[in-house]
Amino acid sequence: MHFSLALALLTLSAHAINIVSSNDDGWAEINIRELYDSLTAAGHSVVISAPAENESGTGSDDATPSALTSACEFDSCPAGSPAYGYNASQPRFNYVNSYPVTAIKYGINTLASKYFSGSAPDLAVTGPNVGSNLGWEVFFSGTVGAATYAANTAGIPAIAFSGATGSQTAWNVSSVPLYSEVYAQLATKLTDELIAGGTPYLPDNVWLNVNFGAVTDGESCTTADDFKFVLSRIHTAIPLITADDVETCGSTRLPTETTVVDTDGCYASVSVGVASDKLDADATVQAVVLDRLSSLLTCL
Ligand SMILES: *[C@@H]1O[C@H](CO)[C@@H](O)[C@H](O)[C@H]1NC(C)=O
Ligand SMILES: *[C@@H]1O[C@H](CO)[C@@H](O)[C@H](O)[C@H]1NC(C)=O
Ligand SMILES: *[C@@H]1O[C@H](CO)[C@@H](O)[C@H](O)[C@H]1NC(C)=O
Repeated sequence: MHFSLALALLTLSAHAINIVSSNDDGWAEINIRELYDSLTAAGHSVVISAPAENESGTGSDDATPSALTSACEFDSCPAGSPAYGYNASQPRFNYVNSYPVTAIKYGINTLASKYFSGSAPDLAVTGPNVGSNLGWEVFFSGTVGAATYAANTAGIPAIAFSGATGSQTAWNVSSVPLYSEVYAQLATKLTDELIAGGTPYLPDNVWLNVNFGAVTDGESCTTADDFKFVLSRIHTAIPLITADDVETCGSTRLPTETTVVDTDGCYASVSVGVASDKLDADATVQAVVLDRLSSLLTCL
């Protein structure tokens, strides 16, 4: 390759990064495949390492994978398949027959070195989860469990995405649901904004919990551009006890993510979490994210 061409490609890919992707709805669910397509189209190098089956609600569970005693979800692999597998014509699509944490761990420890030339992933993304993960639900969500494992144990900045609309749908459904496309585009938009300022993308042990409001086919909130991102808290603050949040929108108390997603209009909440306990980060850490995402965030 000519030096000038190599240089041009390098410049083009300045913000193209290596991303490990997982979820709890399973490797063959359409949302994770749409996100793969969207992030890949944006120039990123992505590897999916997600559960073979629906592992919704399994939190931070982790167990040695076993061979499949029944087919993978939506018949995406036959019964008797090995504990770890991949799509033969698209080896970046990998399943692990265990929990979300176990699956993303395999992506980070084993697949990354193969696909990212020996490097660790730059970022971990999970979801978009089928259904919201708001407030106390973060303690049970496997989509959140995988993201917090990446940010805490593996030291990789992580974002958990969830969407209010949809039901678990096979990757090869005859027509891709609109919500799945819109959520993938929104997730890519936030990812690109977060990484635009270079590393570190997030402070240590920090993850983002991002929830997209409903996509109402044929009515409103039908394109990514319709949505506004609002900085939020995961958990309800306790008066006089919970310390102030970062000051923004004329207040030192952020709205909860539940409030943001439930507000009339098309909103996405962005909460800043501590990965080791799934509680809210403090005002100083929230300020780092507010600064990074300032061109994307609006007030409720
Ligand atoms: C996936 O698992 C969750 C939790 O057990 C369950 O509520 C949901 O119905 C399951 N989804 C499907 C499509 O079976
Ligand atoms: C595997 O990838 C091929 C080619 O992209 C696709 O046609 C097929 O449906 C995929 N199967 C699964 C389970 O991902
Ligand atoms: C999706 O792929 C599975 C496994 O190959 C197959 O059983 C199913 O019929 C396919 N669905 C569609 C809509 O093509």
